[in-house]
Amino acid sequence: MFVRRIAVIGTGYVGLTTGACLASLGHDVVCADVDADKVKRLTAGEVDILEPGLADLVAEGIAAGRLSFVLGAANAVQHAPEVMFLCVPTPMGVGGVADLSIVESVVEEVRELLPVDCVVVNKSTVPVGTAERTEELLDRADVAVVSNPEFLREGSAVYDFLNPDRIVVGGRQQDAAERVAALYAKLGAPTVLTDAPSAELVKYAANCFLAMKLSYVNAVAELCDRLGANISDVTEGMGYDKRIGQAFLQPGPGWGGSCLPKDTSAMVQLADAADFEFRLIRATIDTNTRQRQRMVEKVRLAVTGKRNGSLSRRKLALFGLTFKAGTDDLRDSPALAVAALLRQAGADLVGYDPALKPETRHPDLSSVTVADDPYEAAKDAEAVVVLTEWPEFRSLDWSRLADSVRNPIVVDTRNLLDPAVARRAGFQWIGLGKP
Ligand SMILES: NC(=O)c1ccc[n+]([C@@H]2O[C@H](COP(=O)([O-])OP(=O)(O)OC[C@H]3O[C@@H](n4cnc5c(N)ncnc54)[C@H](O)[C@@H]3O)[C@@H](O)[C@H]2O)c1
Repeated sequence: MFVRRIAVIGTGYVGLTTGACLASLGHDVVCADVDADKVKRLTAGEVDILEPGLADLVAEGIAAGRLSFVLGAANAVQHAPEVMFLCVPTPMGVGGVADLSIVESVVEEVRELLPVDCVVVNKSTVPVGTAERTEELLDRADVAVVSNPEFLREGSAVYDFLNPDRIVVGGRQQDAAERVAALYAKLGAPTVLTDAPSAELVKYAANCFLAMKLSYVNAVAELCDRLGANISDVTEGMGYDKRIGQAFLQPGPGWGGSCLPKDTSAMVQLADAADFEFRLIRATIDTNTRQRQRMVEKVRLAVTGKRNGSLSRRKLALFGLTFKAGTDDLRDSPALAVAALLRQAGADLVGYDPALKPETRHPDLSSVTVADDPYEAAKDAEAVVVLTEWPEFRSLDWSRLADSVRNPIVVDTRNLLDPAVARRAGFQWIGLGKP
């Protein structure tokens, strides 16, 4: 295997995982970030995101002299990289379009500094046409641009990076694309070598499909509620069909996180710009917005006994605030979206999440008081609302919880708990799509 000198720009979920995993595969990696404190902490081996195995890989990489951290992309280029990965944010911009300003500013920063024959790889999720735009901005005939979208999931980022379902690499210059694909050769994954627009579109098409699957199952769960069918049996019956599969068939309070909301919006904008109205994705987004409101309606009915009852000053305990279990990421969390609607309806909210501390600060967390103990969160609550699928909620002492709440009602928006256990403990259990 060729050992390559690699620069990774951005040390978030994707960048730090990419850097640490490529170092573990034997490459010589320097990672850059604009956050000076983060660079200092990473240099000392301190990883401040919750990702199983990541801190160990970072420590191993540093100890082996294969992984280092610097402030700013320009300093990473001093390392004379043969390949430079862009792993910076591409957030939702005005009107739902992907905001590429950070990608563009990094390209501008390194444009004149990149060594001859370097390959710039876009791992950030970017709209079709970004590789071409990057080539124009770079204006360097000796530097190739390649798209290599990332598919890792937060909470299992290292595992997913090292055990990918597939590697997708696209670029105008075949040799540059092959050089990037070769970095992953040891992983033995199926590799799709293509042009840049196709590689860029794979990422959006895949994420939109996943969002569509979730909106679909949430809509089917709503139908189950109305028709008296059981969503667990319906999805089990669907999932044995290999064309459908069991994954992504669990109903919930709506999809969220740092990727699906921005990527579905960007896809709609991308299609609009190409004069194609992608109604399927618009409906997917609308169904998701409605799903959050539907959770509030469930809580309202459970607590007040009326469809239009008031939640004003009603204390609710929210179990789970992160966007999914296994991560401490709160970005675009459906739990926080539901919390915001409950707060808007006047409820007083105390939340508990295994990944958060009472001192955790986040702009979307302002409406929730965070407790560091589920029993304390539940004290005098008029309902417990399960919003994130943390498995440890199943093994809480539900009898003790029943003693400390004001009303033993649990609205389980993830169908996480065993209803029989909750009922035995004295709770009225309300799930999604369950008769
Ligand atoms: N998080 C995921 O699960 C996931 C999965 C696949 C793809 N992606 C895509 O990967 C990209 C990065 O996502 P993320 O979740 O890792 O983001 P993140 O917010 O966790 O990390 C981004 C990092 O980039 C740094 N940064 C910002 N501007 C910079 C600059 N000018 N120079 C150097 N560093 C800079 C930030 O300080 C931060 O540390 C996005 O396009 C995202 O859509 C994310």
